[in-house]
Amino acid sequence: MDDFIQVKESQVHHYRNIPLYCKADNGDYVLYKPKGKYINFTQDKRNLPPQFFIQKQDSQTAVSELQKSFNTHLKQCLNSKGLTKVKSILCDVVTEAMSRPSEGSLKELPETIDIMFEGYGHNAQLLKKLTETSSTDRSTMDHVINTMAMAMLYCSHCNLSKEETRKLSLAALLHDIGKTKLDANIVITNRKLTDNEFEEYKTHAAIGHDLIKEAGTFDASIAQAILEHHERLDGNGYPRGIAHICFEAQLIGLIDSYEYLTHRSKVHRKIKSPFDTLNLIKHEVIIEGKFNRTIFKELCTCLA
Ligand SMILES: [Fe+2]
Ligand SMILES: [Fe+2]
Repeated sequence: MDDFIQVKESQVHHYRNIPLYCKADNGDYVLYKPKGKYINFTQDKRNLPPQFFIQKQDSQTAVSELQKSFNTHLKQCLNSKGLTKVKSILCDVVTEAMSRPSEGSLKELPETIDIMFEGYGHNAQLLKKLTETSSTDRSTMDHVINTMAMAMLYCSHCNLSKEETRKLSLAALLHDIGKTKLDANIVITNRKLTDNEFEEYKTHAAIGHDLIKEAGTFDASIAQAILEHHERLDGNGYPRGIAHICFEAQLIGLIDSYEYLTHRSKVHRKIKSPFDTLNLIKHEVIIEGKFNRTIFKELCTCLA
């Protein structure tokens, strides 16, 4: 069995405390950089081996070092670089967190939220602009980052405490983590899902809840918000069809719907304007009773 894992070329410079290996012509793994040694990978790209590897036993430490490095980079970029760069680092953080949730990749996310809160938490303009900045090829990451930014915007607008903001922003960032365990053909598709596929898609709420509970480092309300973010107050949501839904899930469910309709297009559905979207959701609030009126009213005010 192979005891080595290939690492992304774009990430090798983040691994300072992890030994890096390359492959010799005979297929053997050879130590390229010992633990703790710094190498300037950008200096002479031509002399670099084509692929880098880490030992499997180092994977948890590697994920942690990578996420810490992303956070340091994010902190540096918040003030000096543009929103595209900030969004791109956030996409890296979330991509890594989602791809290896069982290897401790979620541990550094509260720190990511704290950095965003310190930098943008009380700046409605920046949070709104962040949701308008797209990172083209990573729409799933874009979606959860936008949901997080809108949750933070809502919390700032309603003067919620730092602790409450942290919890809601984290729940927003993690609300679709269960999708990482589904078939990518169901999650990343432009077509309408078949009935069977939709049944499978619906399991992401419960899967996400279990993943976050197993991670063990998050407030119980975050796991509950993930489980209930597709439930609706009229009892017509999923997975359980319950009408009594926690506040966190009501807010995230509402923002989730708004973000989806304003940013995600499908073959059978075009992107809607914020005005049209709010009108559509208003119908779901007032006529169908799917969402909470007060939360909807506050969200309209802070998105305006
Ligand atoms: Fe979802
Ligand atoms: Fe979502």
